[in-house]
Amino acid sequence: MNSVKKLIAGNWKMNGSLESNTTLLKSILDGDTRADACDAVVCVPSVYLSQINSLIQDAASSRVRLGAQDLSAHEKGAYTGEISVSMLKEFGVSFVIVGHSERRQFHHETDQLVAIKAERALGAGVTPIVCVGETQEEREAGLTEVIVKRQLAAVIHLVGHCISEIVVAYEPVWAIGTGLTATPEQAQSVHAVLRAQLNAAAGDVAQRIRILYGGSMNASNAKSLLTQPDIDGGLIGGASLKALDFLSIIACA
Ligand code: 13P
Repeated sequence: MNSVKKLIAGNWKMNGSLESNTTLLKSILDGDTRADACDAVVCVPSVYLSQINSLIQDAASSRVRLGAQDLSAHEKGAYTGEISVSMLKEFGVSFVIVGHSERRQFHHETDQLVAIKAERALGAGVTPIVCVGETQEEREAGLTEVIVKRQLAAVIHLVGHCISEIVVAYEPVWAIGTGLTATPEQAQSVHAVLRAQLNAAAGDVAQRIRILYGGSMNASNAKSLLTQPDIDGGLIGGASLKALDFLSIIACA
């Protein structure tokens, strides 16, 4: 079992409103009393970073950290609609998701672009949560390992020795938002592949790189996933929008 502290990250995706965010976050902050057992982060839509940052700051003591869902590959300039890492930092962001499959699929993000974004985040001291994962067709064609290794290799290649500062999230595309979850054994076997790849690239320090599982993780299946030796936390979509579910996943970790 990897001894690293687990990380439970909520990805709110494009959900929420000023009113519902306050209710959700306050319930999470109120219910989250065992502060040292694992780390927790909520990755919220950019327009709500300021709101959530204030709510977290107002809480007397909270381990809940703030995350963004994407960042620009550029530092600044004429990139309409984009948000730079230095802007995210001004709003208290310490984690940022990069290469989520929804960005790869709907915004045509390539392995190379994802790697540049990860490098940009690291350069600013923000931890990138680098997502990798295969589609249903790729799994059926026996390509799972090839795909996730290719996606991670692009990041390893670009960020070099800083690789130990990233978080990896294995999110099989076929398990996202579908209610289909990878079995603990299926997830563990891919996590072991990723761990071996990180070990080869970074040596011993790879042991402290957290590899999260994401894809229909919920209050009932979290425990069996989180007790696998190479699963160091979760990246939670739907269940992170319900305070009680998110809190029970945190409790499992
Ligand atoms: P679900 O938990 O809703 O399947 O989403 C997973 C995910 O994409 C988290 O980034």
